[in-house]
Amino acid sequence: MCGIVGYIGGQQAYPILIDGLKKLEYRGYDSAGVALLDNGELHMVKSVGRLCELEDKIGIGCPYGMVGIGHTRWATHGRPSDTNAHPHSDCTNHFVVIHNGIIENYQALREWLTSLGHSFRSETDTEVLAHLVEHYYRGDLKSAIRQVMEQVHGSYALVVMSRHEADRLVCARKDSPLVIGLGEGENFIASDIPALLKYTRQTYILDDGELAEVTKNDVKIENGNGASVEKPIFNVEWDAVSAEKDGFDHFMLKEIHEQPKAIRDTLRSRLNDTGVVLDEIKLTHDQVKSLRKVVMVACGTAYHAGLVGKYVFEKMLRLPVEVDVASEFRYRDPLLGEDTLVVVISQSGETADTLAALRLAKEKGSPVVAVTNVVGSSVSREADQIIYTWAGPEIAVASTKAYTTQLVVLYLLALHLGNLTGVVSLSEAASLVEELKLLPSHVESILKKEHELLEFARFISRWEDTFFIGRGLDYAVALEGSLKLKEISYIHAEAYAAGELKHGTLALITDNIPVLALATQPALHEKMWSNIKEVKARDAYVMGIAMAGDKGTHKEVDAIFEIPATIPLLAPILTVIPLQLIAYHASVLRGCDVDKPRNLAKSVTVE
Ligand code: F6R
Repeated sequence: MCGIVGYIGGQQAYPILIDGLKKLEYRGYDSAGVALLDNGELHMVKSVGRLCELEDKIGIGCPYGMVGIGHTRWATHGRPSDTNAHPHSDCTNHFVVIHNGIIENYQALREWLTSLGHSFRSETDTEVLAHLVEHYYRGDLKSAIRQVMEQVHGSYALVVMSRHEADRLVCARKDSPLVIGLGEGENFIASDIPALLKYTRQTYILDDGELAEVTKNDVKIENGNGASVEKPIFNVEWDAVSAEKDGFDHFMLKEIHEQPKAIRDTLRSRLNDTGVVLDEIKLTHDQVKSLRKVVMVACGTAYHAGLVGKYVFEKMLRLPVEVDVASEFRYRDPLLGEDTLVVVISQSGETADTLAALRLAKEKGSPVVAVTNVVGSSVSREADQIIYTWAGPEIAVASTKAYTTQLVVLYLLALHLGNLTGVVSLSEAASLVEELKLLPSHVESILKKEHELLEFARFISRWEDTFFIGRGLDYAVALEGSLKLKEISYIHAEAYAAGELKHGTLALITDNIPVLALATQPALHEKMWSNIKEVKARDAYVMGIAMAGDKGTHKEVDAIFEIPATIPLLAPILTVIPLQLIAYHASVLRGCDVDKPRNLAKSVTVE
């Protein structure tokens, strides 16, 4: 949550800061601010609202300076307002700070600093950082920040700029991401890589506890003990275009349409004619044989991918699989150990709860496999073994291509482990591999029928309540479909295991209410048809999603969208695509901000 950027070099910093913030707006967008230093003068402008409101406020009189910092906020402490927007400064306006994370002991620090005579302007936790730097500063910014780091608890990626040392920015991180971009006679700081792509692909990714002193010609990094660190340069392979909208109206639509490529890229080099080649996974046959349980941990959409993973793993490994929401996981003292494989799933690789779950699993001796999309993310650096989803940057807050590629990776992992233990026979593996290879073209053919979904999206967009029902794997996908609809169109959407409706929720079914019935699992068809009859008997309007040629489901529903026929186990990857498109179009029709839904942010780096 929150995006931070910094620039120091030979160009005017303001356009670079604004450009970087635009790329990071997905991390938070309730207020924004910039601060620049020009000949020892500090220029700071902040505004509640989107970045464009900050730009409007600044107008043509943009602040000068070749060193500066900027921030786009997702409020945690203190409501969105001009005053609570970052940057924050100390009493003397000599130190300016931007921060992503939460300073957990800020209240005690604030009281202490107030007793020493400091006066606070905002309600934020961040402001204590500025006053602490002021308190500890004895002519060396870096040492002052070191002392601050020793005193604060919680998470932070922070950048400090000072009028006393205008030739440098000092940044540090603990549990929130921070990247330094390396230029020629200029250097950049950002929360995430897309903010840097226009300027450089050469980066240093800071690790927890590290602090960096960034001047225009140099970057000096120290670890938590103050020892200097020689870091390898991390070369970013994403190009700038993949982080742009590329002619689409919204990032979400672009990312939905990128799914054939994302799936292809994720499969590429991991399949041969008979099975899966997963060199990333170093678990031996004996280790896999000794496993007694698999636990999948994730949040939001990634959690929904885990729910599909449960079905797939139980089928291919014949081991019990638990799926946990990461924010609940560690508070129930989970049963972990060497015989439990923990699979953490996170697009960003920075979700605070997922990262904490990963750490707990490692502490308890469980082997941890991470499924993530971001190379160099915290999850990728801390997990024992990583399988990347090669989806490219996902910018829209609502996750789409990350979900489908997470599913692809879970299938590959289950197949790989199932092969190792012999639960999956070679012939089963070979036929699944053949079907996996067809997925990108199946998704393409669904995308070509996007227009068929517009009418239903229009219908749904006029309602405030909807239901998604399904059984088995379809229920797992129903949960994801309903999340997509709620988060971007603000329509209340309930996902229900179809057989569970009559235990209470059926009371909410009223005349013409939209129900999306997912019916892609032939083994459950008859049961599903009965459940469709139950809602139709209460006058619901039912849109079915079924595989091509499924005449039985066709007869039960008011409208149908067909996905290409595939083996039922793989259906979730296809079923979700029309649900993403329905959510997208309903959101557009309701005039919502598709890519930046209210109250949300892409990366949830606070607990
Ligand atoms: C919903 C969505 C979120 C994320 C969740 C986890 O569309 O995107 O629910 O899935 O915040 O994020 P990652 O996968 O980055 O850990």
